[in-house]
Amino acid sequence: MTKTVNTTPYTDQKPGTSGLRKKVPVFQQPNYAENFIQSIFDSLEGFAGKTLVIGGDGRFYNREVIQIAIKMAAANGFGRVLVGRGGILSTPAASHVIRKYEAFGGIVLSASHNPGGPTEDFGIKYNIGNGGPAPEKVTDAIYAHTKTIETYKIADVADVNLDAEGEQEVAGMTVQVINPVSDYAELMETLFDFPAIRSHLAGGFRIVFDAMSAVTGPYAKEILENRLGAAKGSVLNFVPLPDFGGHHPDPNLVHARALYEEMMGDDAPDFGAASDGDGDRNLIIGKGIFVTPSDSLAMLAANATLAPGYAKGLAGIARSMPTSGAADRVAEKLGIGIYETPTGWKFFGNLLDAGLATICGEESAGTGSSHVREKDGLWAVLLWLNILAVRKESVVDIAREHWTTYGRNYYSRHDYEEVDSAAANGLMDALRSQLATLPGRKLGDLTIETADDFSYHDPVDHSVSNNQGIRILFEGGSRVVFRLSGTGTSGATLRVYIERFEPDAAKHDVDTQVALADLIEAADTLAGIKERTGRTEPTVIT
Ligand code: G1P
Ligand code: ZN
Repeated sequence: MTKTVNTTPYTDQKPGTSGLRKKVPVFQQPNYAENFIQSIFDSLEGFAGKTLVIGGDGRFYNREVIQIAIKMAAANGFGRVLVGRGGILSTPAASHVIRKYEAFGGIVLSASHNPGGPTEDFGIKYNIGNGGPAPEKVTDAIYAHTKTIETYKIADVADVNLDAEGEQEVAGMTVQVINPVSDYAELMETLFDFPAIRSHLAGGFRIVFDAMSAVTGPYAKEILENRLGAAKGSVLNFVPLPDFGGHHPDPNLVHARALYEEMMGDDAPDFGAASDGDGDRNLIIGKGIFVTPSDSLAMLAANATLAPGYAKGLAGIARSMPTSGAADRVAEKLGIGIYETPTGWKFFGNLLDAGLATICGEESAGTGSSHVREKDGLWAVLLWLNILAVRKESVVDIAREHWTTYGRNYYSRHDYEEVDSAAANGLMDALRSQLATLPGRKLGDLTIETADDFSYHDPVDHSVSNNQGIRILFEGGSRVVFRLSGTGTSGATLRVYIERFEPDAAKHDVDTQVALADLIEAADTLAGIKERTGRTEPTVIT
């Protein structure tokens, strides 16, 4: 029932920031998915008879690869596969299922916030037994195997029925189709004060959640409407579609524009939120105010003890390097640790496992905690709702009070998407070669204090990750950071992160792009963005 198939390597299977992401037609090449999955298994040891979790965000090609992964897991000797009904598991739910059932690991099929469909994106990611993305030493080993692979093993059996919960047998392995929502919803009930949120909603607090036709629909319906009693219709676009309805399932101000407009309107609900393709990102908008992810991280951390799951306090906060320093001020005031990691959730795993950090966040709309080992969109929404239910203030009042207490970190990210790769690499190389001579240089009223290429020394396993982004720090604490995306599937994406700290509450009302204008100009002068990329404007401003 098991066969060994001869194959030849593909040269482009290097995992990026978050697993292997390619266009669907690339994944549809003969043996492409099989090669990568076999390379994952070949990089692991000791899984015979153990459990593997498999699930995805429901995008185009999800079901096909799930069938392949199940049959290969059986042929390679796993004892059991847990798979979400319909092949669905949000990324945070997959992380939780791995942890709860003490699985050996999991395969998560997603390209996160990238569009889906026959010519759009697909992805495969391996998560280890702690529920988190595989660390670099594992992804490096996977990549090495993809370059030399000669055969893969697969069970020669009929497809598994993914639509009926319960157990089936596949070539001697048990496949259990599980409810994708229930374990996750139960976990949320242990962390948050559901009765308080329920009574706040019953008292007229209005919310809207846009699931963007992606994986969080069923989770949000069950938790927000069924368990917390939000008005029917509060969850929009709740049916996961293989092409996300033709939209870009990225909860930012460009792709969730309709939600933003609604929240800025006269009759806006009190709280608006959205999540991405696989459910790990979040967008938070209060009535009349967008909360930047960096601010959201800081505000959630400052108020976390209002939720039962965090009532004992936080061990520490971790943020990715490009994320603003707003969380650092909270950590300082609370007297807890603050950790600055490279971009990508995988770097938080060690800190969470070691109990050094409780809450983590990235400027790219990712926030999460030690409850799982992925960022978690609905978790952030529920923590906000818990805080709002206890404080009984508006989002705008909570934000203003926060800035008055801690100061405001004006923050924006400018993305230049699908730039010519050679031009993007040339820009980064040119910046890198200037680093030593930049300190002391003046650009208008700004003076460069330090400049470096960020290196991370993991305090737990002492691994070192170099070249994680170029940081230009100005006197007074403002900064500009440059890095290239590791998740794109065509050309290069240049990300420019811009930040200014403003302690004076009288200056907390300025439009963000205006508050950052001189730094934006300095970034262009230093990197020659317009000249090198031929772009006059960023593709996306968040
Ligand atoms: C992007 C984000 C990063 C996030 C990752 C996965 O990676 O910037 O914070 O962890 O997606 O969601 P990038 O494309 O910048 O490499
Ligand atoms: Zn995602």
